[in-house]
Amino acid sequence: MKYGFFDDEAKEYVIQDPKTPFPWINYLGNDDFFSLISNTAGGYSFYKDAKFRRLNRYRYNNVPMDNGGRYFYINDGESIWSPGWKPVKTALEEYECRHGLSYTKIKGKKNNLSAEVTFFVPLGSWVEIQKMVLKNNGDQAKSFKLFSYNEWCLWNAEDDQNNLQRNLSTGEIEIKDSTIYHKTEYKERRNHFAFYHVNDSIDGYDTDRESFVGLYNELSSPEVVVSGEASNSEAHGWSPIASHYKEITLQPGEQKELIFLLGYVENEEDKKWESKGVINKEKSDQLIEKFNTVEKVDQAFKELAAYWDNLLSVISIDHDDDKLSRMVNIWNQYQCMVTFNMSRSASFFEVGIGRGMGFRDSNQDLIGFVHQVPEKARQRIIDIASTQFPDGSCYHQYQPLTKRGNDAIGGGFNDDPMWLILGTISYIKESGDFTILDEMVPFDNDPSLAQTLFDHLRISFDHVINNLGPNGLPLIGRADWNDCLNLNCFSNDPNESFQTTENNTEGSKAESLMIAGLFVVYGNDYVELCEVLGKEEEVERAKGHVAKMKEAVKQKGWDGEWFLRAYDFYGNKVGSDENEEGKIFIESQGWCSMAEIGLEEGLVKKSLDSVKERLDTPYGIVLNNPAFTEYKIEYGEISTYPKGYKENAGIFCHNNPWIMIAETKIGRGNQAWDYYKKISPAYLEDIQKLHKVEPYVYCQMIAGKDAYIPGEGKNSWLSGTAAWNFYAVVHYILGIQPDYYGLRVDPCIPSDWKEYTVNRKFRGSDYEITIKNPNQIEKGHVTLSVNGEEIVGNLIPFKQGRKYKVIATIS
Ligand code: BGC
Ligand code: NOJ
Repeated sequence: MKYGFFDDEAKEYVIQDPKTPFPWINYLGNDDFFSLISNTAGGYSFYKDAKFRRLNRYRYNNVPMDNGGRYFYINDGESIWSPGWKPVKTALEEYECRHGLSYTKIKGKKNNLSAEVTFFVPLGSWVEIQKMVLKNNGDQAKSFKLFSYNEWCLWNAEDDQNNLQRNLSTGEIEIKDSTIYHKTEYKERRNHFAFYHVNDSIDGYDTDRESFVGLYNELSSPEVVVSGEASNSEAHGWSPIASHYKEITLQPGEQKELIFLLGYVENEEDKKWESKGVINKEKSDQLIEKFNTVEKVDQAFKELAAYWDNLLSVISIDHDDDKLSRMVNIWNQYQCMVTFNMSRSASFFEVGIGRGMGFRDSNQDLIGFVHQVPEKARQRIIDIASTQFPDGSCYHQYQPLTKRGNDAIGGGFNDDPMWLILGTISYIKESGDFTILDEMVPFDNDPSLAQTLFDHLRISFDHVINNLGPNGLPLIGRADWNDCLNLNCFSNDPNESFQTTENNTEGSKAESLMIAGLFVVYGNDYVELCEVLGKEEEVERAKGHVAKMKEAVKQKGWDGEWFLRAYDFYGNKVGSDENEEGKIFIESQGWCSMAEIGLEEGLVKKSLDSVKERLDTPYGIVLNNPAFTEYKIEYGEISTYPKGYKENAGIFCHNNPWIMIAETKIGRGNQAWDYYKKISPAYLEDIQKLHKVEPYVYCQMIAGKDAYIPGEGKNSWLSGTAAWNFYAVVHYILGIQPDYYGLRVDPCIPSDWKEYTVNRKFRGSDYEITIKNPNQIEKGHVTLSVNGEEIVGNLIPFKQGRKYKVIATIS
């Protein structure tokens, strides 16, 4: 069963049935102003921070699902309907939602009238544009009434939900002509207000929710819409809204366009007022003026499309496989940009009030977007590193509005520092900009503690070796990448957070094999960076530590058929055949294999064969096996999830690409590709009903083989899965890797691929790289012909402003 299709030409996913198995959403905005929008126009907007600057209310986990958004109602005397089907849910004669790159078009048709709304946030402006096109398709004149609807959030999304004793008395609005202004708390400590405008005269309005909806009505049948007339209500306290009312008549074939603008404005302290109690509207007037005609809006829409064409032109492929092409050329890159913008803050699973920007999350997200916007990546690296502590440990998260470390969660996640090496090196390899290493970067946001970014990398490296446990392996701290393997936590209290509770700190012995592998991978990268920088002493020092770690893994981290996962607080093995449950875990197989620890002795192959045997399923690779069936206090949150879900033997998509990459290290392209297809959304179209979440983006988790419904996806959009899969398929399967001195070609592919082309922009030059596989092999020796000349090795050198035509032959 399908609910829509990919329109690759338009770079859109087209939904034809509004009743998708879960709301299928999209994101608008690329700079400071963002919106979430579902296929029935549900969702909300915010400025920079979904918690502190939320424009509209959204009720998560509502009944019915996804009730609340920017809604339009049409009352034509015969029926009441909404172009996006919801909230009215009147059956439409036609419905279509096109989710595109930073825009969504929703179209409904009923009783000879069609209404199409294009939603987008123009580049560089703090406004959501809603361009509505109404058309009378019949042969009779048609009169109808149009109502818009938007409920204001009182800015702080968390407080908005829980401090009703205050909030129901604070709401303030202003109305002028066709614009409704939301100015709650503007007269005291806020310097910002929002507005909802339409570029035409109106016949009425409502600004008080209860007057519009009716206290005992629902959004599907607001009193005002049903009665067919606005009540011109003024909100004082209670719940302020913005609704325009307009009577419209269209002749046969006539079309009318309206531009609705939902905007956000900040005023300087001394310029807040036009007169006592009346907002200074200079800036909102300017914003309105900027987008008040169809021509201006269409122009802004074109600019947005050009922006995306440019971003996507950096990496694109020509390949026979349409599904792979649409993932690599469009959707995977798009999702990477969204994860960069949102981190793990606001989706239909992340409520926008909890988590800030994760230290490890943001560094990993970076590998998915650094080629598109390297200058933004640079800033992100510096922001992240600024929250590190002088001893190398890190705040686990920081708030996007303040860029300060989040005290509520603190630090102590011992994998965090290593990811900074990944982020920084990825940036340098892409951009060639070594100057970032000389930037003075604060510790704990304190400029007086600043050292160079290179120092931050050294201190990150040292943080691991300064925190080794009794087996010479890295201490895990609160947790490593797996936030739910809480080996020092021991919680009996359901009101405690597994992430922040650390009962057994003194003498803690829990050690992580995942961090060990991570350390070897990025320790080697650090060594290589030091070589490039000519820091010979540091090369030797770091090499020694990496070699020691490898040895420790071989001695203490090998279980016979696979790598152990950890040692727990008591020094017992985690992820061993000795255990009854959780015998094998994916993370250490991925990292120790990517690190090629014991490659010569066959450990990597054995480890990956064990993954195949014990963790692989038709829907992807599960995190651990057997799943935990009871709470193990010494393991923590992992054992709280029902079997097959989330970190307890779910298919945690984020770490599947680690195994794909590891497979390419031993030349098994067929296997890497098979794993890729299992979780790559474009390949799951035929099981959409089961998969549930959007078919155009990755989700964090797919229910594992032990779950009640294996194959069901959850937590779509905001996951490191996006970046890692893009990285795995482009760098390791298709095999195009940016390196310090050029682009490296090192494919590992399914043997039935004969030829494909990767188009790459890299440091100001254009590359067209065609990979030929005449002998139908998975991996082999690569011979390069660059602009007709054979070169030695697999590194294409670069000079700025060139065009390179490369033929890479695998033999
Ligand atoms: C989730 C993890 C997440 C952690 C921190 C846990 O409940 O299962 O995936 O990283 O919370 O927010
Ligand atoms: C989601 C978190 O954002 C991430 O930091 C963590 O690594 C994974 N869950 C796995 O627990």
